[in-house]
Amino acid sequence: MKKIGVFTSGGDSPGMNACVRAVVRTAISNDVEVVGIMQGYKGMIEGGDNFTALTSRSVGNIIQRGGTILKSSRSKAFMTPVGRKMAYENLVDQGIEGIVCIGGNGTFTGAEIFYNEYGIPSIGAPGTIDNDLYGTDLTIGFDTAINTAVDAIDKIRDTADSHGRVFFIEVMGRDAGFIALAATIAGGAEMVLLPEVKEEHTVLIDFFRSRNETKKSFSIVVVAEGNFEGGAQAISSMLNKEIPGFESRVVILGHIQRGGSPTAYDRVLASKLGYGAVNALLAGEKNKMVGLIDNKIRLTPFIDSITMKKDLNADMLKLIDILNN
Ligand code: F6P
Repeated sequence: MKKIGVFTSGGDSPGMNACVRAVVRTAISNDVEVVGIMQGYKGMIEGGDNFTALTSRSVGNIIQRGGTILKSSRSKAFMTPVGRKMAYENLVDQGIEGIVCIGGNGTFTGAEIFYNEYGIPSIGAPGTIDNDLYGTDLTIGFDTAINTAVDAIDKIRDTADSHGRVFFIEVMGRDAGFIALAATIAGGAEMVLLPEVKEEHTVLIDFFRSRNETKKSFSIVVVAEGNFEGGAQAISSMLNKEIPGFESRVVILGHIQRGGSPTAYDRVLASKLGYGAVNALLAGEKNKMVGLIDNKIRLTPFIDSITMKKDLNADMLKLIDILNN
């Protein structure tokens, strides 16, 4: 393999740049040229200026930057055979023989379909704040996202304490509760509402009705966005209606969790996985995601990383209960 492409796709995550840097420098150290494909699959289809040669220097001074210098998109066109054909023709024009894709579920689904149709091998690096990919203990960006969430929780805690209020804080994670679980433990929150463990309304109502007995002057509840139709706002409104005199505030952290300079942990993880992805591609691997399991680089077929469910650690739920006393 003499020339590979690299792109970032789907929701961006802090550390993607560190991964691009590692991909480019590992490839160059193996005498392989690298082409950056801007805007993910969208740029691959549209071609032209979206293909840009990357050198060691073009990825200098990016390890500390959030977002992605290659930009990102969620391409609808790539889900169509016509779109994928245009993408293939552009890759052939550029002489690209293999791909490193940095993204999540949707990115790897696209790469798998593309290989089956056109035979261009790809290796994926898990870049998503959600940490919802099977085949890696952690995804690139998760650590930064939970640190951002915890920083916000600490600040909300100050005002919650001053006013003796209940706060529902909604975090991202799509339909997985990894961010919520970690933010709850690290932020010292009283309760977590997860998509994986749906509580009945009555359980919540009883909990907050009996709250006075716990003698806690304020409460922080972390709500995973996928927990409840309407999210934290709907839960808060439901409780305000059901419990006379109950008053709460809602904070939706939103996209703030996707930005910011990556933590040292994310930079190291991203560097290892970028390096691992290129080595795998050059060793003839394809259609696999590179991940870190028990601190060792491991490959997992895309099909497993997409379809198999990474379980939440049930012990952590027990821990939250214990720490809440
Ligand atoms: O997958 C990352 C993520 O931030 C999810 O946590 C969230 O549900 C989704 O992307 C939001 O996507 P968008 O930025 O397209 O609104």
